[in-house]
Parts: sequence; structure tokens; C-alpha cells
Amino acid sequence: ENAQLKDIISHAKEYGFVYPSSEIYDGLQAVYDYGAYGVELKNNLKRLWWETMTRVQENIVGIDAAIFMHPTTWKASGHVDSFNDPMIDNKDSKKRYRADVLVEEHAATFERAGDIEKANSLTGALARLLEAEDLAGVRDLIINEGIKCPISGTSNWTDVRQFNLMFSTQVGSVAEDASTIYLRPETAQGIFVNFLNVQKTARMKVPFGIAQIGKAFRNEIVARQFIFRMREFEQMEMQFFVRPGTELEWYKVWAETRMKWHLALGTPAEKLRKHDHEKLAHYANAAMDIEYEFPFGFKEVEGIHSRTDFDLKSHQEYSKKKQQYFDPEVNQNYIPYVIETSIGADRLFLLTLCNAYTEENTEEKSRTYLKLHPSIAPVKAAVLPITKKDGLPEKGKEIVELLKYDFNIIYEDAASIGKRYARQDLIGTPFCIAVDHQTLEDNTVTIRYRDTTEQERVPISELHGRIAEATSF
Ligand code: GAP
Repeated sequence: ENAQLKDIISHAKEYGFVYPSSEIYDGLQAVYDYGAYGVELKNNLKRLWWETMTRVQENIVGIDAAIFMHPTTWKASGHVDSFNDPMIDNKDSKKRYRADVLVEEHAATFERAGDIEKANSLTGALARLLEAEDLAGVRDLIINEGIKCPISGTSNWTDVRQFNLMFSTQVGSVAEDASTIYLRPETAQGIFVNFLNVQKTARMKVPFGIAQIGKAFRNEIVARQFIFRMREFEQMEMQFFVRPGTELEWYKVWAETRMKWHLALGTPAEKLRKHDHEKLAHYANAAMDIEYEFPFGFKEVEGIHSRTDFDLKSHQEYSKKKQQYFDPEVNQNYIPYVIETSIGADRLFLLTLCNAYTEENTEEKSRTYLKLHPSIAPVKAAVLPITKKDGLPEKGKEIVELLKYDFNIIYEDAASIGKRYARQDLIGTPFCIAVDHQTLEDNTVTIRYRDTTEQERVPISELHGRIAEATSF
């Protein structure tokens, strides 16, 4: 982990954003909890996504499907048979690695040293072997290249085996009637199996979309980089159902729409890029990622996939229930094609934190603050009486009453005003409202702005309007 990521991780923990799960027991790898400000920030991100998907788009509605699904769902979706990572163990260190990642990291060392040809030949060979499901060949490649275990330093490797990423558990009693079910590895299947329920009951006409936010679970072996890759995480997915033959047009529309959304959220254009997939999953006829430049490099934040009719067709086969839509405009029954947009809420959270984290070091001042858009900041304003005497706390609490039903507000009257400003900077509060003796005379307060640290005298009656304007998106 690089220095910048380390600073962000410790900031997140120290100031109530993200903690390792069950930390008193030394944590649980790749599982994290959100604290007082983290949960507010995450909820704000989810709300923004939800509103731009369901409220702004008149032809998209939401659902909230269960995490547990009938086990046949995952046969039909292909997850039971092919949601695998090729794993290899080092016999000396007893450490397990993703075989493909070992080769890719090895190739990257050649790329960094300028030997692009060698790097490309390695990644090309790996892609061909994986495509042919030649796991023995992947092992041979690792051995022949002399790739060593980073811990033991030896190349004493086991065979490569496929390892399914789904978590399973039992429903029912422990007796014979118990059956194995999975924790969903993506939220998308809850949408596919409800396609006709939603279409009929919400009276939707193709093209239309279904959006969902919910937990997903994957037994990730290479769990690294903080909340970038987790075993329990949240997805925000939208499946958009279209007439067959129009899917590539819609794919373009959604790729552009999603990129614009990230830019509107304040992510700088130079930190975002598109990455078209050359190698497509079995269900897709076009796919791309939106990547963000994290402190550890450009990495996927969101995927946009043209999934054809693969999922609905497969559910029709397995369930023996027709998954067709009658399109009155063309007077035809068909299984719709699907464009999917899929983003991890935690990954978007990490992007937001990386983007906002600002260390300012000038001659006059040195401070750290989170430059969050006011619409997503966990706390919108802090009300801070400059002393605890003379009726200032009472006046401050009156102001809190005026604002707290519409905004998340903090009231604080201990410590010096400078210290209290600094604390609000660290959690990204855009406005500090200082209450002083003049407030008692003329009902004005001082607003101190987080980004500029400039101060302005304004009437109390204007506070609500100003915060509302700044926090609207
Ligand atoms: N339904 C399509 C699907 O699940 P994916 O590319 O596997 O596609 C979509 O996942 C998004 O979910 C990713 O772009 C990422 O933001 C998020 N995601 C996937 N695995 C994750 C993990 N282990 N931890 C955190 N986020 C993850």
C-alpha cells in the first residue's frame, strides 16, 4: 500500500468513516464497518445514485430483492459453473494466490522495465490458456517463468485449481432436508427473476429499467487495497431492457450517461477513463469499465455491459416460465436484451474519499480537509457558539432547531473555535456557523467556508436557504 492510501485509511478510521470489522478481535480480512460520518457519506452517495436513476429517469423503477435466492438461479446465471478464480498454493509458505494475478504482476515488472513485447507475450499466453481452461498450462507458465512466492521466495507450487467465489450456507434444519443456498454474488439476478413481475405491476413498456441497491458477497482471495475489494460489499445496479437489435445504441447511451454522472459529482475528467473490454464474458456482446485513478493506479469503479438476452433466456430454460414481453409497437413477443450499469457503493465511497482528501501546506496555514461536494458531505453545517457563556449556547441551539429537520447538523461548544473549525474540516463539513455576542443583538452569524476558510456575516434567516442551495445537486 502506498503512502497516500495509508494516509486515507488512517484518516477514515480516526475520523469516524471506516473501521476494520470486529476490530477488537483483530479484524476480519476484507470486511469493514462504516462509522458515524462514513454511514452518512455512503447514504448520501446511494441516495444520489437512486434519485438520478429512479426519479430523474421516468422509465426506471426500483426494487429491493432478497439476498437469498433459489439455488437454481445461480445455475441459470452461470455462477455455479464459471464464477471461479484459478488459484495456486505455495507449498513452503502455505499461501494461496490467484494464478492469473501472479502472471499479470510478473508481466507488469517487464512492462515497467520497458520490455513491452515480453509483457504482452506473457499476458497473451495467459489469456489463451485461461480461454482454453488449460490450468496445467497456467502452472507450467508460472514454473517456466520462475515466478516466486513473495513470502517464501520459492517456486514450489501446487496445481492450479478453480475456486468458486460464492459463499454458501444451509437453509432448513441440519437434517437431510437442508439445502445449500448461496449469498448472492451480484444483485443483478434479483432483477432478472423479477423482470415480468415489475414490468406488469409497474406497467412498464420496453425500453425500461429496474434499479437496485443491495449487499453482495464474494469470497475474494486477493483481498487488498482497503474497501476496494471486499468480501461483503454493496452494489448499485440497473438493468435496462430493450428491443433486440437496439442494444448497442442503448449501450452507448448508458456509457455516456454514467460518465457524465461521475463528472457531475465533481470527479476530475483527468482522473477518469474508459476501458473497453477486448475479452468479453460469455453473456456479453459489448462491455466497458469506467476507471478512476486511485492512489494505486487506474482501476475499475463501474461496469457497463451489454448482456444480450443471456440471463432472461437462461432463466426461461431453467424455470420453464416464459420470460417474454409483448411489444405492441411491433406486434411481437420477444425476450428483451439488457444493458447493465453496475457500480460498487464502497468503491464509489473510496473514490470520493481519495478525491476529497486534501493536505494544504502554505506559509500561513497547514491543514487537512475533505473537499466533499456539500450535497454528499456527511454533516452540512456545525453550529459553534464562540463561548459557553452569556446565552450563546441557547442561541446556538435555536439555530440548530431551525435547521436540523432538513439537514444533518452538529452542535459543539467545547474547545477553542480554531480547534472546532479544524475538526469540521477533517470530516468535510462545508459550513461552520459561529454564534457570538453580536448575534444576540442583530440576529446575524458568521459563516466560515471550509474550502476557502473565508468568513461572511449573514442573517440567521438566510441560513436555511443558503444551505439548501449549496447542498442541492
Ligand atoms: N452484475 C455485474 C457485476 O456484478 P462486476 O464487474 O463483477 O459486475 C460490478 O461488479 C461492480 O461491483 C464493480 O465495478 C465494483 O465497483 C463492484 N465490486 C465488484 N466486486 C467487488 C468487491 N469484491 N468489493 C467491492 N466492490 C466490488
